[in-house]
Amino acid sequence: MKLISEKIKDFRNIKNADFFPSTAVTVICGENGQGKTNLLESIFMLTGAKSFRHVKDRELPNKNSTGQSVLESVFFAEGRKQEIRITVGSKGRIASLNRGSERKASELAGKFCCVVFSPEHLDLVKGTPAERRRFIDTALCQISPGYLSDLREYTRLLAQKNALLKDARNIAAAFDMLEVYDERMAEKASSLASFRRKFSTELETGASEAYSSVSGDRESFSMRYLSTTGDDDDPEEILRMISAARSDDIRMGYCTIGPHRDDLEILLNGDPARVYGSQGQQRTAVLALKLAEAGIFRKKLGEEPVLLLDDVLSELDGSRQEFLLRRLGGSQAIITCCDPNFIERETDADVWQMTGGVLNKKE
Ligand SMILES: Nc1ncnc2c1ncn2[C@@H]1O[C@H](COP(=O)(O)OP(=O)(O)OP(=O)(O)O)[C@@H](O)[C@H]1O
Ligand SMILES: [Mg+2]
Repeated sequence: MKLISEKIKDFRNIKNADFFPSTAVTVICGENGQGKTNLLESIFMLTGAKSFRHVKDRELPNKNSTGQSVLESVFFAEGRKQEIRITVGSKGRIASLNRGSERKASELAGKFCCVVFSPEHLDLVKGTPAERRRFIDTALCQISPGYLSDLREYTRLLAQKNALLKDARNIAAAFDMLEVYDERMAEKASSLASFRRKFSTELETGASEAYSSVSGDRESFSMRYLSTTGDDDDPEEILRMISAARSDDIRMGYCTIGPHRDDLEILLNGDPARVYGSQGQQRTAVLALKLAEAGIFRKKLGEEPVLLLDDVLSELDGSRQEFLLRRLGGSQAIITCCDPNFIERETDADVWQMTGGVLNKKE
């Protein structure tokens, strides 16, 4: 999968830009606050997903515009040239693929795939379980067609059940309703948990291999999916667990177990990375997870995802930078950097300059 061109209008501080990345490595250089990450974010939007910076769609259009960003791209996937056009704004994200009819951008899932590495992803190790669930969910939505609809349905049921649980006055009258919710949620929970468990096993295989290579085999990486509904993803078993949690749910006023409370435990040399990992080890762990994610995409889609590397090199020591650049292999990579010298030396990268939202190719 390769991005051939992107035409950007009114996205963040980028009023107008035409970007033609190299099929191999492209470096975007520029000082702080010039719009480098904004460019990567605009490319990521072409996947149809929400921004990786967790902001609302309506915050993305340029502040001095009419309130809508337009992103038009040509890319190569499934053996042919394809096009995606997306508008982003207060009406959400609307997309059309190959000039077809307009639909919700989330329906594009799997057409154009990116893996992003960004300093914000350190939250994958350091942050709350919600960050790790978001990571798994975003990845699975891109590669597993059924996952998004199951997740949506589960989230909808969860909100309704929580509303019932909150309303303590009517809780006795709501018992029949709760039972109906439990059954439907158990089914969706079973599907979500088994997708996630399988994904985390594959992720662990790839990430532990990458982590050992980066650390020169001195350190080990492992990972576990921690499910609040136990290790058995059978719907009957999950329903039993959910029913058993009923009194806790009523006492707390929300659903206390289910995929919305699950977590991924990341271990370095057998200890939780969140607690014991050093800064550099945590960064390397995130990098390893992201490389593993790219590997899974490659296998599932039969295509290399586009790699978006935001300011990643500046945080790594020399040997880790070199390792990463070597690992990029045949993938298309778009890398932001304040100092492009290193990458220019290491690869035959194209270099583009971003200044105040204006993008120019450096000759
Ligand atoms: N909706 C918006 N409209 C206009 N400008 C915006 C909007 N959102 C963000 N910006 C501007 O974009 C700039 C930040 O861009 P970005 O995060 O891409 O910088 P960067 O080049 O990646 O910097 P750094 O090297 O610090 O990471 C800020 O100046 C910010 O004010
Ligand atoms: Mg940035």
